[in-house]
Amino acid sequence: MRAIVMTETGGPEVLVAREVEPPRPGAGQILVRTEAIPVLYPETKVRAGAFPFPAPLPAVFGFQAAGTVTELGDGVDPALRGARVVASTTGYGAYAELVVAEADSVTVIPDGLATEAAAAILMPGSVTLALLRTAAPAAGETVLVEAAATGIGSLLTQRCTALGARVIATAGGPAKARLAREHGADAVIDHTAPDWSERLAELLAGSTVDVVFDSIGGDSVQPLLDLVTPLRGRIISYGWLSGAPAQLGAAELILRGLTLTGCAGTAWLAEVAGQRAAALAAAADGTLVGTVDAVLPLAEAAQAHRKLEERVAMGTVLLRP
Ligand SMILES: NC(=O)c1ccc[n+]([C@@H]2O[C@H](COP(=O)([O-])OP(=O)(O)OC[C@H]3O[C@@H](n4cnc5c(N)ncnc54)[C@H](OP(=O)(O)O)[C@@H]3O)[C@@H](O)[C@H]2O)c1
Repeated sequence: MRAIVMTETGGPEVLVAREVEPPRPGAGQILVRTEAIPVLYPETKVRAGAFPFPAPLPAVFGFQAAGTVTELGDGVDPALRGARVVASTTGYGAYAELVVAEADSVTVIPDGLATEAAAAILMPGSVTLALLRTAAPAAGETVLVEAAATGIGSLLTQRCTALGARVIATAGGPAKARLAREHGADAVIDHTAPDWSERLAELLAGSTVDVVFDSIGGDSVQPLLDLVTPLRGRIISYGWLSGAPAQLGAAELILRGLTLTGCAGTAWLAEVAGQRAAALAAAADGTLVGTVDAVLPLAEAAQAHRKLEERVAMGTVLLRP
């Protein structure tokens, strides 16, 4: 079968199309003939070596794939045969025509939701639902959504707007700002300006932000602290687009009566996994609307990673085997 093999850690060029032996499902596993493979932002970090790769290299790359279940290992519910699913691997093996996954990692795609749409929404949709449960934004509150033009940020913007919150978004450049507005943001600040928190202060004109969905982290969070509502303000730290998590001391939060929730680690990942079926159901009924930027041939996986790293994608990039 054709697959994308990661030869070593490094730039996108370490993702190479190769002919490899097809995998076989073991006990408790299924085999999926793939139709759409999402290219996920955290995958670019794993490929670059910022997080350890969970297998000896070279190995087939990839975390998630959507398609049809064609084979079952021992002990798997026979109802899964022929089902359309999004499968999550244990960290490798998904950028391929055939993918093996644990049967209990799959999310069945509801009728009425296209396989490509399911592949595009599973990760950002499940993370978004978990973040909303954590922050519980309410009607009338002001919410700051960082990096609101694509992925998780766009879904947070859509849902917070629908809940009746006022959304102030950040985005990089005019095209992404337009996109954030289309997703429902009341106002958009360009986060490529180093002093963007000052634009936020001007926009707030003395009012404060109740919820910060922080995907940038690093030094960008400290200047926001005096703009967050004392006692009620929630900072939800879920991404490190700057390369590091929020750089803060506990005292800076305590003295203002603020809460910071870290959204990482095993318990958080279980919380996200628990939202996968709900995310596909929400996409099927139109509550969550994902955006697909491009569908590229599987062999162009390296190009897909470049698109994400150059920040030119205006939605999810999918690979089609
Ligand atoms: N905690 C969790 O469970 C979890 C799960 C998945 C992802 N995440 C994190 O959530 C964040 C967003 O993920 P996503 O899937 O929504 O990503 P995405 O759709 O690929 O969007 C990322 C966007 O972030 C913006 N950005 C801001 N600073 C950036 C930088 N230094 N480098 C690259 N992009 C930058 C870019 O938009 P502009 O061009 O507008 O700047 C880019 O388009 C990432 O940090 C990811 O690691 C967390």
